[in-house]
Amino acid sequence: MPASPAGQLRSIAIGVTDLESAERFYTSTWRLEAVARSADAVYLRGGGGFHHILALHRSRQPEVRNVTFSVASEADLDAIAARAVGAGGRLLATKHEVVEPGGGVAVTVQDPQGRVLRFVHGDQRLAPQADSDAPSRITHVVFNSADVALAQRFFEEGLGFQLSDRTRIMAFMRCNSDHHSIALADSDADTLNHVAFVMPDLDAVMRGAGRMSDAGWPIEWGVGRHGPGNNVFSYFVGPDDFVIEYTADVLQVDDSYRVGGPSDWTWPPGRFDQWGVSKPPSERIKQAQKKIRFADYQA
Ligand SMILES: [Fe+2]
Repeated sequence: MPASPAGQLRSIAIGVTDLESAERFYTSTWRLEAVARSADAVYLRGGGGFHHILALHRSRQPEVRNVTFSVASEADLDAIAARAVGAGGRLLATKHEVVEPGGGVAVTVQDPQGRVLRFVHGDQRLAPQADSDAPSRITHVVFNSADVALAQRFFEEGLGFQLSDRTRIMAFMRCNSDHHSIALADSDADTLNHVAFVMPDLDAVMRGAGRMSDAGWPIEWGVGRHGPGNNVFSYFVGPDDFVIEYTADVLQVDDSYRVGGPSDWTWPPGRFDQWGVSKPPSERIKQAQKKIRFADYQA
């Protein structure tokens, strides 16, 4: 596969209105672990080797600050900076040492619809943990887009992503062997749709759903198995109405993968997943997955 310089999806930084209670939720119930903090931020790792996969920032309103990819070389940072600008993005920060926990060298770009995307090389790694109930990493972030074709073109030309599947409402884009690291959903605004955390297996997804239910966070969509990507899913509306997903079994693909179109991914009426067990998404999740915006860039 022609390697995308984007590397691997590493982390998302979000603004939350109650930092302390968000930290409690993401550690005790969602099962991440705090590895670093400042007065106004907490950095949380999963069971995998990334230094952190979620950064919580104290904020007046819920928002996305950035989505960060870990790239293979410093040359890839230079390639991204050049390609992203050539494809209509803005270079928000030229190559610099990252001062926040996790470190490394980074460039930050903004796509034509305002998403802040950071690419880091040489960031710290931690020894993976064998916790069968902890999410290991983030496997995808889904963005709503008022112009999916425009966003898709930027991810392809600016960042070297490839289209894996196009359904009636979504473009699934990959930058490594994961079926998708980014998906773009047709919408009326450029907001966050959801963030998906990989669990070790289907049983861990189910136990996680039980843990969430015990703590008062009901399943809002699922449990089911998606068509594109073949992954198991269970969706929740977390603190500040961020939509978060436990997932497992994400399809691994290579260049032999045949790109599917809308006619390949049409369910019969009343069906929402491969198994035929999932109810439709709740009204609550449908509202929540439209409303979180990207913050203005803060260095
Ligand atoms: Fe998802």
